[in-house]
Amino acid sequence: MNEVRVSLGERSYSIHIGNGILHTIGENMNAFSFSRKTLVISDTNVAPLYLDTVVNSLQEAGFVPYTAIVEAGEKSKAFATAEQLFTTCIEAGLDRKSPIIALGGGVIGDLAGFVAATYLRGVPFIQIPTSLLAQVDSSVGGKVAVNHPLGKNLIGAFYQPKFVLIDTDTLTTLPPRELSTGLAEVIKYGLIADNSLFTYLSSHSEEVLSLEPDAIRHLVTRSCEIKADVVERDEKESSLRMILNFGHTAAHAIEANTGYRLYNHGEAVAVGMVAAARISKDCGYLDNEAVRVIEEQIEQYRLPLTASDCTEQELYDLLYHDKKMIGGKLNWVLLTKIGETKIRSDIKEEIIHHALASILADGVK
Ligand SMILES: NC(=O)c1ccc[n+]([C@@H]2O[C@H](COP(=O)([O-])OP(=O)(O)OC[C@H]3O[C@@H](n4cnc5c(N)ncnc54)[C@H](O)[C@@H]3O)[C@@H](O)[C@H]2O)c1
Ligand SMILES: [Zn+2]
Repeated sequence: MNEVRVSLGERSYSIHIGNGILHTIGENMNAFSFSRKTLVISDTNVAPLYLDTVVNSLQEAGFVPYTAIVEAGEKSKAFATAEQLFTTCIEAGLDRKSPIIALGGGVIGDLAGFVAATYLRGVPFIQIPTSLLAQVDSSVGGKVAVNHPLGKNLIGAFYQPKFVLIDTDTLTTLPPRELSTGLAEVIKYGLIADNSLFTYLSSHSEEVLSLEPDAIRHLVTRSCEIKADVVERDEKESSLRMILNFGHTAAHAIEANTGYRLYNHGEAVAVGMVAAARISKDCGYLDNEAVRVIEEQIEQYRLPLTASDCTEQELYDLLYHDKKMIGGKLNWVLLTKIGETKIRSDIKEEIIHHALASILADGVK
């Protein structure tokens, strides 16, 4: 088992990463002085697979687990669902030391975290992320949120968990497309911070795609370390944390341009990383060969290089509505080489137009 420590003063916590460790949740919880009553929140896909193991482990460790299962999917990340969960907490008599456990992907982590951050002004929160995206991204960093009809993640908080338990065996039941979604974020970590992770991904695609435990444990651990390192230096997202948005600027525009239906998040990020790599090249930072190996790796992990059903002008217009835009300027996270970033807000319009045109699957219309 590997352990990644996230050092945030009194909000520090550990991420435990291993295979076949789901049943240790109860004993891990006993290291804290929690109340016996606890609520496990999961979704309709994950609960039938893993909830029994978690509940049994909690009972064996002397806890009294209550459970709440919400419909799988982004629609559940809503205030209405949170309100139902508050009702469950109140009716179960959960007190200020009663932990709330998220068992599921990023939707459950964000939703359960939001409930934990606000119920009684905050109760202990524990994450058991079961999707690769949640294991390498959403469960690290303490951002919790629900969506609003007018926008995603608009209602939320920074709220750190007491610990995170990652059992990589849960990935064996994850649909292949969801696995690739998470891999896009792993590729991103290699690109922004660790050339050796990037090289590892290039030479171990077979092991990774067949979920070979050592390979998966390595890349989940490295990803958590990189995100933890960034978060430690910039917990509340003032500047450095911006590098985690590599590929996300164009990705958000692609997701919006295709109505959040055609591409899932990781696929849009893959295309967005291609756009950012090409802008980096046009700014003179990357050479053709670097762009080629980046594209090769993205394809190797069953992710797209171009996006259908988008137009260059619509993408361009959408970029200016991105909430990550600060002071009217569009910040691009670029690469100076694989493993190193530079943020620029003064990119010439024609370079951006050129990059956007190059990622259209249907060509410029
Ligand atoms: N808080 C953050 O910092 C942060 C960062 C990135 C993304 N997010 C959020 O995360 C969400 C996306 O996360 P996601 O991709 O995990 O989505 P998700 O939670 O919807 O999970 C994807 C799908 O996989 C299923 N699933 C999860 N684990 C499974 C398993 N082990 N076996 C079988 N099926 C499984 C889920 O039921 C769902 O159908 C978005 O809401 C996004 O905004 C948050
Ligand atoms: Zn992302």
